[in-house]
Amino acid sequence: MTIAAHAKVNFTLEVLGVRPDGYHDLRSAVVPVSLADEVTLEPADEVTLVMDWCGGRGATALPWRSRGTRDPTGGTRDTTVETEDNLAVRAARLMQRVSGKNDGVTITLEKRIPVGGGLGGGSADAAAVMNGLNEMWGLGMPRKELATLGAGIGSDVPALVLGGTVLMEGRGERVDWLDGCETRDARQDGFHLVLANPGVFCSTPEIFKAFDTPLPNRPEILYNMRLAMQAGDGAAVARALQNDLETTATRLYPEIEAARQRLEAAGCLGASMSGSGATVFGIARDAAEAGRIARELEAEDLWSVAVETVR
Ligand code: C5P
Repeated sequence: MTIAAHAKVNFTLEVLGVRPDGYHDLRSAVVPVSLADEVTLEPADEVTLVMDWCGGRGATALPWRSRGTRDPTGGTRDTTVETEDNLAVRAARLMQRVSGKNDGVTITLEKRIPVGGGLGGGSADAAAVMNGLNEMWGLGMPRKELATLGAGIGSDVPALVLGGTVLMEGRGERVDWLDGCETRDARQDGFHLVLANPGVFCSTPEIFKAFDTPLPNRPEILYNMRLAMQAGDGAAVARALQNDLETTATRLYPEIEAARQRLEAAGCLGASMSGSGATVFGIARDAAEAGRIARELEAEDLWSVAVETVR
């Protein structure tokens, strides 16, 4: 079976405080976009992972070049590897444990989502493996139960197992569909976005560690975003964007703020950082405008792609 593992952006990301276990309490509107890895699962005796970097047309196109960065592919393509660190492999192991099954699976990942860019690529692959094996092995586990289990793999996994526009809370383990956003007219378009990556590698632990300004509770942030999304109003969504980690990430990597401003200067209605960065995204008026802006940024050697939000 083949599954599209969609990248996500965070339309809002609030850091509410630090928890006793060192993690941060978050509140975030997580929105899937059309950029996706392709995850193929085939029954097998062992758990095996095949990485396919799409011959350089996929994630390798990212221009990693700054401090502490490296080509995430190590220059490899179409390589078969077996690694217990990979989130998709960890997802398969988790499904073996909870099901009591000893079946294996060959997981082929066609990578298109930039690695380590705040778009949840690794987590999306893990979520696809969990949902896929639930079906392939006939486990019949409810989606919300699977989502909660996914927190053991990574904080973004529960939201991506659930799928659709999700309100994520706690460390990331408390997820539910964001009220109203799913009930919009199915014929209505998604929002048109431009993603841009300035080519710096942001480590999530590094950004959270440097974050030192928990802010007071601001319920209006999510309230305004929810209203804007329900109304299908891109300009209002653009005004309601918020990411509490952006100031910290920008202090460490000024290229992020430069890329965000570049999106606005090129015509986006508003722009923000996704997750802990370094990818930024802007809201465009329509698909044609998103395509034009992405081409303009690509011509300036900024990795950029036009996408649409998906349900
Ligand atoms: O859970 P995950 O492995 O995705 O988290 C990576 C790192 O990001 C954690 O080790 C932690 O330093 C930080 N983090 C955090 N609070 C969260 C999520 C992640 O401090 N809610």
